[in-house]
Amino acid sequence: MKTISISSLNGMKISGEKFAAITAYDYTFSRLIENSSIEVSLVGDSLGNVIQGRDSTIPVTVDEMAYHTAAVKRGNNRSLLIADMPFMSYSTEVKALDNAAILMQAGAQMVKVEGGEWLADTVYLLSERGIPVCGHVGLTPQSVHKLGGYKVQGKEDEAAAQMIEEAQILEEAGADLIVIECVPSKLGGQLSAALSIPVIGIGAGPDTDGQVLVLHDMLGISQRLPRFTKNFLDGNNSIQEAITAYGDEVRDGTFPSKEHCFK
Ligand code: KIV
Repeated sequence: MKTISISSLNGMKISGEKFAAITAYDYTFSRLIENSSIEVSLVGDSLGNVIQGRDSTIPVTVDEMAYHTAAVKRGNNRSLLIADMPFMSYSTEVKALDNAAILMQAGAQMVKVEGGEWLADTVYLLSERGIPVCGHVGLTPQSVHKLGGYKVQGKEDEAAAQMIEEAQILEEAGADLIVIECVPSKLGGQLSAALSIPVIGIGAGPDTDGQVLVLHDMLGISQRLPRFTKNFLDGNNSIQEAITAYGDEVRDGTFPSKEHCFK
């Protein structure tokens, strides 16, 4: 079984092969994700919504993230395992180092932080200390109240250009990956072309290097299904088959199709 590292994803970007990521929160689903050959497993703070029934990711704590990260790690030795740094856990550089260390010791191989240029020094510091970092731009759910809701971001040319510039700053600071969420497809493609590190899109169109979905969304069991997701259980006979179909459709470019994209 070939394990996936950041070098594997860099190689896939260079050769133009798409890769799939999916959120995971527990051991049992994590095993299914390993069996489905999904390249990246993300312990998302979306667990606040889909596991805890909260109305945002804001209440999620570092201890909760560490608990779920350890469970996911036990179920999957193949996929690259990223853990979200939850709300305010990286509001200062010292906090970021201490909290990233907790998640790495729980089993994460990379941590994800939401935001742009203001995170450059934090990304640099974590990276210098040997902690791989994934940035997250576009719709950043931890800032939902500042953004005024879960809305498509980067629709205006100026906002799109700024998002690309901020992601480039994160790459220069040492980020290894970028997630871009809920933006017009054109911007998803432009960002992927502007960066040499891999870009993973969610609601960002077909032209990002990889795709990520929330597990409960792609199984069609979330309470509120975002427009950019697809129910892969529909037409498949088991959860294992659904997750495998998702990975296959990402790799062959079938997903996302037009109906899952924003203009
Ligand atoms: O928390 C999460 O699940 C995420 C993905 C939506 C990218 O950040």
